[in-house]
Amino acid sequence: MINKCLFPVAGYGTRFLPATKSMPKEMLPVVNKPLVQYGVEEAIQAGMTTCAFVTGRGKRSIADHFDISYELEHQISGTGKEVYLESIRNVLDKGVFTMVRQREMKGLGHAILTGRSLIGNEPFGVLLSDDLCLNGEGDGVLAQMVALYNQFRCSIVAIQEVPEDEVHKYGVISGESMKEGIYRIDGMVEKPNKKDAPSNLAIIGRYILTPDIFEIIEETPPGANGEIQLTDALQTQAQRGCVMGYKFKGRRFDCGSVPGFVEATNFVYENVYDK
Ligand code: G1P
Repeated sequence: MINKCLFPVAGYGTRFLPATKSMPKEMLPVVNKPLVQYGVEEAIQAGMTTCAFVTGRGKRSIADHFDISYELEHQISGTGKEVYLESIRNVLDKGVFTMVRQREMKGLGHAILTGRSLIGNEPFGVLLSDDLCLNGEGDGVLAQMVALYNQFRCSIVAIQEVPEDEVHKYGVISGESMKEGIYRIDGMVEKPNKKDAPSNLAIIGRYILTPDIFEIIEETPPGANGEIQLTDALQTQAQRGCVMGYKFKGRRFDCGSVPGFVEATNFVYENVYDK
């Protein structure tokens, strides 16, 4: 069983300014639900009921969201409006929420290392809530990856084919296809130029990591953008042992960009939201 999921949520969300000036980007609603709640629901569905947030300054409303609001509960109790609280009550019933603050922004690898004290020595999930992944009534991406972890017992990254002109936005893998949609990774590059990219298979923000990743991150020097990159640590892990890439089932929206966010909003309003 994988019980814990790490949520790096310390980033600034500059692309959404001024909306994100005093509000975490993870709290931006896709229709009526904050982006981070979609992620938490996906983790809980995968059995990861401990959600560990690596937060930063100005992110307090995330902690408040995953707690009871007594005043609101009191106001709404016994009225027809209770239905609006159903999804978050459900999350609060099932989940445990822990937090640690990342004091300096030194990259995704550094954020993961900051979360070490919340995880301990066990395999865990990582979910980047900017990547909203939906799979209708089917299993969410993390649940799909847990099933794969039970088979391979090593770190797994979610991957997706992207247009060549977009590889520079992602970590990109190369690897040997084991069976349909499953790759054994032999190389990974963070944010490559089009000409240096080993493929067009991009890493999407879902990972299952074995805990030896923490020691590897400690030894990993800053890489792309001068940041400590999870991709570089995973590359080391792949060389020493095994890292798998998994082409997940479902649809992914890049909610870290305004066009992706708008696309997600339209999709959710038309296909998911109960009008
Ligand atoms: C991060 C990872 C990158 C991955 C991406 C997925 O980059 O470093 O490897 O492809 O998430 O969204 P970021 O988008 O934080 O720059």
